[in-house]
Amino acid sequence: MLTLEAVSADIAGIQVLHGITTTFEQGATIAIVGRNGAGKTTLLRLIMGFIPRHGGRVSLEGRDLSVVPARTRASLGIGYAPEDRGMFPTFTVEENLRFPCEVIGMARPAVDGRLAETLSIVPELEPMLGRSGAALSGGQGKMAALGRAIMAGSRMVLLDEPFQGLAPVLAQQYSQSLQRLHAARPQLCVVITESNRGLLKDIPTRTLALERGEVKPDPGEGASRRI
Ligand SMILES: Nc1ncnc2c1ncn2[C@@H]1O[C@H](COP(=O)(O)OP(=O)(O)OP(=O)(O)O)[C@@H](O)[C@H]1O
Ligand SMILES: [Mg+2]
Repeated sequence: MLTLEAVSADIAGIQVLHGITTTFEQGATIAIVGRNGAGKTTLLRLIMGFIPRHGGRVSLEGRDLSVVPARTRASLGIGYAPEDRGMFPTFTVEENLRFPCEVIGMARPAVDGRLAETLSIVPELEPMLGRSGAALSGGQGKMAALGRAIMAGSRMVLLDEPFQGLAPVLAQQYSQSLQRLHAARPQLCVVITESNRGLLKDIPTRTLALERGEVKPDPGEGASRRI
């Protein structure tokens, strides 16, 4: 579905990603594991169009994404939960959730429908809806960022280190939400980065190892398939 072919990227003049080639398939849950600084966040930001690629090609169902500006990528159905959560502090949680759908001009009843589905997948968000985006704890912010990614991501959801720093009970709730998400949208592709692969347990169906900006054969045990 989403294909990267020999994609590289620079940040501040330093090459961070080196010739990444991989495909993210429909219905898969793909883990990108790698140490701090390996380039995981950079790879997700590149897919979102927040940083330019340097050579190579990124395509979604054959369509070259370099011609699609970042602000309209939400209309492609790619949702993103950044590592720092990125909640607007002056919006309520509900406004934060609705925002990516409103930006792309989705009609109100459709957004209402998405919100109802999202709340059925992440029920912990219901009591938070009226709260300010600034009033959430770190863990609550991660749940809200997941919800917002689900709102926007009808095809694909990119989650940057969702389990990092989550208390065990919240991590369990987060995993259950991912299971409900898969049940509700079996065709959805979910990409999860993690520097601590142990936190992912058996969630991924495939694991991709990133080392200093390059894809390496996955050395981990328990990953179902190797690249
Ligand atoms: N704004 C920036 N300016 C300069 N260098 C950067 C910037 N952001 C990232 N880098 C560098 O790019 C490389 C990849 O960083 P990236 O954040 O993608 O790694 P990561 O795998 O997500 O790490 P982490 O596990 O710490 O989140 C690192 O060497 C980092 O120092
Ligand atoms: Mg990162």
